[in-house]
Amino acid sequence: MAVFKPSKREEFMPLPITFISTLGRDGIRNIAPYSCVMPVLRPLDLICLASAHKRDTLKNIRETGEFVVNLAGTNLADKVIATARHAPPEVDEFELAGLSEMPSVLVKAPRIAGCYAWLECKLYKEYEEPGYVLVMGKVLQLDVSDNALTPDNTLDVNRAEPLLMVGGKKGMRYCTLRDIGHFEPYGAMFPDGKDPLEQLP
Ligand SMILES: Cc1cc2nc3c(=O)[nH]c(=O)nc-3n(C[C@H](O)[C@H](O)[C@H](O)COP(=O)(O)O)c2cc1C
Repeated sequence: MAVFKPSKREEFMPLPITFISTLGRDGIRNIAPYSCVMPVLRPLDLICLASAHKRDTLKNIRETGEFVVNLAGTNLADKVIATARHAPPEVDEFELAGLSEMPSVLVKAPRIAGCYAWLECKLYKEYEEPGYVLVMGKVLQLDVSDNALTPDNTLDVNRAEPLLMVGGKKGMRYCTLRDIGHFEPYGAMFPDGKDPLEQLP
């Protein structure tokens, strides 16, 4: 067994690479990759992301109250650094990264074309510490590309190839998922075999 510093968490905990798209108050389009993103419990409609203070993304979310979490496949691996490099707020990051926009349904921030799913969010709450801000968003609209769905409307991981990353000493390794063909119903966690959340919307 090897022992690592507690701060090396993401070297052993694969994370999704999502792209957050926002608009500045002036309407300038911004994109940044965010990996510290998670849903807040089943069956809620909340999502939480950890942001450093110095992010145009955070500023835009605070100013407009909106953002889109774009879920990317491995096809967008070459857009990660293009959108992660520091760009002044007046730069349109769709143009900079060569990405096209798709209109959102309920928010003004545009979606990124070529992703496999889009979560349109509105700012719900923030938790601020000196080194970071936890931003909680309420998902207003969730759309998934037909190409990323199985016939029974679940994520087809082989076709979507969700983009993940594993941190390392010198950088990030990009990865994706493999379905191991092992399914369990939620009810299996409960003695009566019934999922208490099943009746909820
Ligand atoms: C794979 C990857 C994941 C990242 N995840 C986060 C994150 O979860 N939170 C964060 O604040 N910055 C994260 N960053 C850094 C931002 O993407 C980067 O600082 C970006 O330039 C911020 O852009 P903005 O100022 O336009 O918001 C990540 C960068 C990469 C490459």
